[in-house]
Amino acid sequence: MVRETTLSPAHLIYPLFVAPGKGLRREIPSLPGCFHLSADQAAREAEEVEKLGIGGVILFGLPSAKDPVGSEGYADDGVVQEGIRAIRAACKDLLVVTDVCLCEYTSHGHCGVVENGEVQNDPTLALLAKMAVSHAKAGAHVVAPSDMMDGRVGAIRKALDEAGYASLPILSYAAKYASAFYGPFREAADSAPQFGDRRGYQMDPANVREALKEVRLDVEEGADIVMVKPALPYLDVIRAVAETSDRPVAAYNVSGEYAMVKAAAARGWVDEDRLMREILTSIRRAGADVILTYHAKDFARRA
Ligand code: PBG
Repeated sequence: MVRETTLSPAHLIYPLFVAPGKGLRREIPSLPGCFHLSADQAAREAEEVEKLGIGGVILFGLPSAKDPVGSEGYADDGVVQEGIRAIRAACKDLLVVTDVCLCEYTSHGHCGVVENGEVQNDPTLALLAKMAVSHAKAGAHVVAPSDMMDGRVGAIRKALDEAGYASLPILSYAAKYASAFYGPFREAADSAPQFGDRRGYQMDPANVREALKEVRLDVEEGADIVMVKPALPYLDVIRAVAETSDRPVAAYNVSGEYAMVKAAAARGWVDEDRLMREILTSIRRAGADVILTYHAKDFARRA
């Protein structure tokens, strides 16, 4: 009766990794319980997610080929675009969010166009905008830019408006830290940078005021929901964003956070179910409205 924080499957978004082919369902070694799925299998998985009462899915893509400008990321017949269409055909109410970023599609693994060994902010914006529009055309309900280029929310908003998607919301990865917690994801999405690192565009883990600035800029450019990522090592940032921003707040309980729980549970060192509930509750308690998490199905099954 007096509990202050609630947690239900409807608060959660489950990440799906869409790969080329048909009938593919291959477990991801670094993310036990999560799979690389071809579009048809992603639709089956999404049906199950919808039945469990989970709020939505977010789609990532493993393209059939990579190139320096990430062409498959914004191709109308790209893996994610096919995945969106298959899921929308199979599910009535499930919210379909898409990750907008080049790193899964570029041969060098960076989130932007590279010239002279450096990621170029401004030339990247047009490609991200193109990707967002192609997701919208395929039927995405929400686009979620995760690249951390400056000005991308504004560029995407403008392109969506011009293409006739003025009411399609943007969930921006507003405060995204340069984190070691993305390790298992980079294996799952084959998106590790081939040289250098992402510290030029992702944030310093030591900063919180900078996170509030990033959030403010994204909101000014038109972000509808703002995200903090990772979640668990940044609960103070989630709290600060929730207190200062008037937008709904999302938090990404990332791959490394999930993998640690799974690895410790596999050794019998922790009670996985209790650990998962405590972690997800703490993220909600910190102020997140929405949580992106690989635990979503496990939680919903036992909710
Ligand atoms: C792409 C992207 C990443 C994640 C989400 N979108 C990886 C990265 O920045 O390297 C990480 C998600 C996770 O670790 O679960 N830019």
